[in-house]
Amino acid sequence: MKPSAPPQTYRVKSFGCQMNVYDGERMAELLSERGIQPAAEGEDADLVILNTCHIREKAQEKVYSDVGRLVLAGKQSGKKPLIAVAGCVAQAEGEEIMKRAPAVSIVVGPQAYHRLPEMLDKAAKGERATDTDMPAIAKFDALPRRRKRGPSAFLTVQEGCDKFCTYCVVPYTRGAEISRPFKDLIAEVQRLVEAGAKEIMLLGQNVNAWRGEDDRGRRTGLAGLIHALAKIDGLERLRYTTSHPNDMEDALIAAHGEVDKLMPYLHLPVQSGSDRVLKAMNRQHSADSYLKIIEKFRAVRPDIAIAGDFIVGFPGETEAEFEETLRIVDEVRYAACFSFKYSPRPGTPAATMDGQIAPEVMAERLQRLQERLAHHQYAFNQASVGTTCKVLVDRTGRDPGQWLGKSPWLQSVWFEGEAAIGDLVEVTLAAAGPVSLKGLVGQTVSV
Ligand code: 5AD
Ligand code: SF4
Repeated sequence: MKPSAPPQTYRVKSFGCQMNVYDGERMAELLSERGIQPAAEGEDADLVILNTCHIREKAQEKVYSDVGRLVLAGKQSGKKPLIAVAGCVAQAEGEEIMKRAPAVSIVVGPQAYHRLPEMLDKAAKGERATDTDMPAIAKFDALPRRRKRGPSAFLTVQEGCDKFCTYCVVPYTRGAEISRPFKDLIAEVQRLVEAGAKEIMLLGQNVNAWRGEDDRGRRTGLAGLIHALAKIDGLERLRYTTSHPNDMEDALIAAHGEVDKLMPYLHLPVQSGSDRVLKAMNRQHSADSYLKIIEKFRAVRPDIAIAGDFIVGFPGETEAEFEETLRIVDEVRYAACFSFKYSPRPGTPAATMDGQIAPEVMAERLQRLQERLAHHQYAFNQASVGTTCKVLVDRTGRDPGQWLGKSPWLQSVWFEGEAAIGDLVEVTLAAAGPVSLKGLVGQTVSV
């Protein structure tokens, strides 16, 4: 590759989960620190980072087609961008990307992106650079201070996964479970709150596996961290995602009854309602043990919104086993869910299992599942009508004077009135749609 002038502008395109969004923000901060500016809306950037997701579907192919599009756009405008591939596809397929896509200058894994500046120096000399090492904690220590302003901020507290569900690439792309130190997290939240954050979403692939030592040197889990963070003045709301049933400690359940700032929302994936499928998935819990956990949460916080993830068409899944999934959905009455067709991931045990399910069977099951999930989401929204709650305003609506934000149960709520982004506005939920609600300020609603 030819040496090139150092980039002046960048664009980060993040795909997939919230942790990728967080990583994308941190890469942006790292570049800004170096004096590289975000490209203006509609303008070509000198450096494009594709922050990829490998969890499902044709992830690699998507990278190649995105790279192809960037190359073509560069030819048309005469401004060839420096292309970096980051995220989980970079981690899993780094070498292959370097071979197949000569236009890519940098491949950087999710645990190595703090070293982007050195990689940019190499690229400026015309050399290509790959870094897919996994020094997880080193990354956090090497990153610049958070700059993020805005009412709601993500914060990675735990990363990686040791569970090895047989369908999942995460243990291979994000590495082993690590927890960031307590004191670093408290300091980072303090800074985010000073910069205007009202709500913090604690992130981890298994966030409830977070373990650390508190300021007095006592071993503590996520509940201890939440209790400590809740003491920070100016912080109004705490959330966490995603949890695993086997890491659930009673103290975290109890925290939902003790910490006002902890929002009544739990994302706890079950994936399937069939014990045979759960075993084949290596989930290490049963449908029943999962339901018992939900029951405990509801005992301390009856209004809690339960969310989850589902996979349909796991190898060998029979119609009767799929119906067990529909049954657990009816039992839990989820407020919101993500549901997916099983996607074989290269290198995972399930990809070579017997009994791969035909795409049309998967499509039909997914449709039936999503109908059930939509029914329960709508029912949950309808049952909230008449409730008065605070909405954290995060966006303006379509018309002047319209605002959008989130209820404590993470529902999207819109209302009209005096407000600003970042305000916590008390509204009465007046009408429910399938995926959002209308709120009224300063009025009661009879139901
Ligand atoms: N196929 C389909 N869905 C998957 N998920 C993870 N791996 C796969 C796969 N191979 C889903 C799970 C998980 C969510 C993040 O993505 O439901 O909870
Ligand atoms: Fe993947 Fe299972 Fe780990 Fe979740 S718990 S990240 S689904 S291996």
